[in-house]
Amino acid sequence: MVDTIDNLMHESRRFPPDEAFSANAVATPALYEAASEDRLAFWAEQSKSLLHWSKPFTRTLDWTNPPFAKWFDDGELNVAYNCLDRHVLAGNGDRVALYWEGEPGDSRAVTYAELTAEVKKAANLLTALGVREGDRVAIYLPMIPEAIVAMLAVARIGAVHSVVFGGFSAESLRARIDDAQAKLVITADGGWRKGKVAPLKPAVDEALAIDHGDGPAKSVEHVLVVKRGENPVDWTPGRDLWWHDEIAQVSDEHMAKPFAAEHPLFILYTSGTTGKPKGILHTTGGYLTQAAYTHKNVFDLHPESDVYWSTADIGWITGHSYVVYGPLANGATEVIYEGTPETPEPGRWWDIIEKYKVTLFYAAPTAIRGFMKQGRQIPQSRDLSSLRLLGSVGEPINPEAWVWYREIIGDNKTPVVDTWWQTETGAIMVSALPGITTLKPGSAQVPLPGISVDVVTDAGESVGPDEGGLLVITEPWPSMARGIWGDPDRFIATYWEMFKDRGYYFAGDGARKDKDGEIWLLGRVDDVMNVSGHRLSTAEIESALVSHPLTAEAAVVGASDDTTGQAVVAFVIVKDSQRENATSPDEVALELRNHVAQQIGPIARPRQVFVVNELPKTRSGKIMRRLLRDVAEGREVGDTTTLADTAVMQVIAKAVN
Ligand code: WT7
Repeated sequence: MVDTIDNLMHESRRFPPDEAFSANAVATPALYEAASEDRLAFWAEQSKSLLHWSKPFTRTLDWTNPPFAKWFDDGELNVAYNCLDRHVLAGNGDRVALYWEGEPGDSRAVTYAELTAEVKKAANLLTALGVREGDRVAIYLPMIPEAIVAMLAVARIGAVHSVVFGGFSAESLRARIDDAQAKLVITADGGWRKGKVAPLKPAVDEALAIDHGDGPAKSVEHVLVVKRGENPVDWTPGRDLWWHDEIAQVSDEHMAKPFAAEHPLFILYTSGTTGKPKGILHTTGGYLTQAAYTHKNVFDLHPESDVYWSTADIGWITGHSYVVYGPLANGATEVIYEGTPETPEPGRWWDIIEKYKVTLFYAAPTAIRGFMKQGRQIPQSRDLSSLRLLGSVGEPINPEAWVWYREIIGDNKTPVVDTWWQTETGAIMVSALPGITTLKPGSAQVPLPGISVDVVTDAGESVGPDEGGLLVITEPWPSMARGIWGDPDRFIATYWEMFKDRGYYFAGDGARKDKDGEIWLLGRVDDVMNVSGHRLSTAEIESALVSHPLTAEAAVVGASDDTTGQAVVAFVIVKDSQRENATSPDEVALELRNHVAQQIGPIARPRQVFVVNELPKTRSGKIMRRLLRDVAEGREVGDTTTLADTAVMQVIAKAVN
């Protein structure tokens, strides 16, 4: 972290807005003025102008029971109507909503009229299957149009979706199904990834059958299966249904019923500092307001001419806010792509940009750093001249990657917006506004109009220019999480306890203010890792490691990694009773790496597992991860004086090197 701060302090390149861009920019300085004049009136105005309210709201914010906010709470709206029907009614039914590109090269263009009809059918189907308002539906699908249809159909009937990333294991899927008590699972036989079909339905079968002592899954009544991979699947008659068979039998007429602004829209699980993932709850009116507002202003969306592409999977919050809800609420034309960037070869993303003439592009720093390594020849052999704005999300983007992104992908002319936000914030909070802000590579820069953030000391005092501290959000915002599913106390303890006297939301990130008071993110300050822009919990991986019979104890740290930002590095002690089964450290490492991938999902697979005899602990028994991180990053080990046994680190460092 010290190195990072030093490097960032020396970053002085500046990119003022291009005049021609500013002349046509969606965002104007008037947004900042209006928001600072009257923040709540500003949000009320944004909401009314961006959304269709079936019943207009009269109250903007109810903050009488913090930290549980209610926004626009006496209003009513239907999210799917806002994302679909109203665009068709406004005469834009023929506009393409989705350009879908399958990994093997098949493709589909779906207009707003077609997408609306599909969602209406799916809404009728869900209703026919007994799904009612407030019921939870788990979605475990590849990036295919049906994934978006499924999410919008669930929203349309007032049910609550819980999308589970297709790369998560059967165990992880089951834990999420149980926590939310999902009634229905929507999946596919499989989807294309890296040139092969990755099966999904078998993982659902396995998930539902897992028995940890209290029997197989009880809440699930049906499994609805989209045919995509054409891979063979087992079938449980009565429970399992083919999507295409069922959809063929329902009408495409469906009236969208309005729901209260605070009606739950979705749950999305994310990793925290303890073992169990948290079901972050988002509701309807405030969430959609901020998703639409940020998508329009941060990406400078001109819906009649732009082609927008966010490479995020719908399994993450970026896929919710900036693949589904923001773009579709704004009537955008967007690209969605099923597969990986390197299939069939490393230029696939650039081919897609060329093919669809993508104008607005949103991706993660880890991908950009990967492309940098492969060399500029690959993107430079494609025509990327349609691009006019680039976005970054998921982790801090180092200035070198930022400049490469702008130079090589953006032809030295596009703005690059680095957007800071979280699953819990629901939508972008800190970002430059294109056409207004002078850009600084490596900095997320300024809170958006209507958003109040600060960088503070542990005591909650605002830090001065050129000082570092903790990032906090000081005022409630429309798309803020409304809680953790089934666990209000954990919501308070995790985010609001730290600065409870001031009522600040603590984001878990370290940050620095520069001389201009602008914000530079420095990474997590808690036991949460960020690997390729995906959030992983040290505790969750440790608990997967100790669930293996070989392991007595485990400690996990996030070590910096050139491509993935951070990488998972584990230190494990093998049980005495298992020493004879533990053949060689390499074999133990391989076995445990695979075990974690199988328990949580391949994204959690440790880069390295070191077998050690001891872990560094304080006298009170707390593992000192800071010291393990020193070892994992190949640094000299820091201050060990608070260790119970100060010699431990020498032994560990020796074992590892
Ligand atoms: C954490 C949230 C936001 C959608 C994707 C990740 C890190 C996110 C940035 C950024 C520096 C960033 C933070 C944050 N993060 N964007 N632009 N600069 N850090 O969502 O899984 O909820 O993770 O990602 O550490 O707390 P998430």
